[in-house]
Amino acid sequence: MNIENKVVFVTGAGRGIGKALVKACLQHNARKVYAAARDLEALKDLADARVVPIKLDITKAANIQSAAKTAGDVQVLINNAGIFASHSLLDSPLENIRTDMDVNYFGTINMIRAFAPVIENNGGGAIASLCSIVSLASMVFAAGYCASKAALFSAMQALRTELRKKNIAVYSIFPGPIDTDMAKGIEMAKTTPEQAAENILQGIRAGKEDIFPDPMSEQMSALWYQNPKKLEEQFASL
Ligand SMILES: NC(=O)c1ccc[n+]([C@@H]2O[C@H](COP(=O)([O-])OP(=O)(O)OC[C@H]3O[C@@H](n4cnc5c(N)ncnc54)[C@H](OP(=O)(O)O)[C@@H]3O)[C@@H](O)[C@H]2O)c1
Repeated sequence: MNIENKVVFVTGAGRGIGKALVKACLQHNARKVYAAARDLEALKDLADARVVPIKLDITKAANIQSAAKTAGDVQVLINNAGIFASHSLLDSPLENIRTDMDVNYFGTINMIRAFAPVIENNGGGAIASLCSIVSLASMVFAAGYCASKAALFSAMQALRTELRKKNIAVYSIFPGPIDTDMAKGIEMAKTTPEQAAENILQGIRAGKEDIFPDPMSEQMSALWYQNPKKLEEQFASL
């Protein structure tokens, strides 16, 4: 799907990959971009007449309903908002493990449940969600987060089948380390959010159902396609 002339909705647009995605959509000549953030102040630098700021916390049902009403012309939803709150499944507070599920899984599927009818009413379009390379195999130091992203990956597979009938394409995105606040403590080579955003839009344009937007995720996906157990072993050794 080509972003040109489309109406796009991006969650978590106040910083990181989300902000880079808004800018990339503008560069790809989107007609309108709804930039959603919990704090509207974070959107102030997105000075383009095509950007429509929306206040949205994806864990709040009322926020989601109101966003779907306001943005009734959306054709492409990009679920970017996400959180990394939990680490080891044995040691992290259960509350943090729940927070990861609430935002990354339940928040995202609630967005999809609200926006799928909107996109269908507009003749179809696309829904893309930021999963993670750790959706495919877990890392022990981020296990709670990994489980929430694995759940999202599974949801996207089922939704692909269900939404096809409504003329909505489904894209799952699996980044490796991207240089944002979320990856601050990770000592690995990182891709810039701008490059990741550009690669995501190129993947969507090429119709790739599974998008690996950086060199690390590309390399790990090759291993996973070959032998999923090898990726599990590789991540367990980190
Ligand atoms: N960076 C990486 O290495 C990496 C790798 C794989 C996948 N990802 C995924 O890519 C996506 C973007 O990550 P990032 O690296 O850009 O992270 P980031 O810099 O931490 O930004 C996260 C964004 O999500 C928003 N957000 C968090 N909870 C929210 C909620 N309840 N409702 C609405 N928005 C919420 C944040 O808003 P506030 O500013 O209000 O907190 C922020 O805009 C996430 O889904 C992440 O899991 C990132």
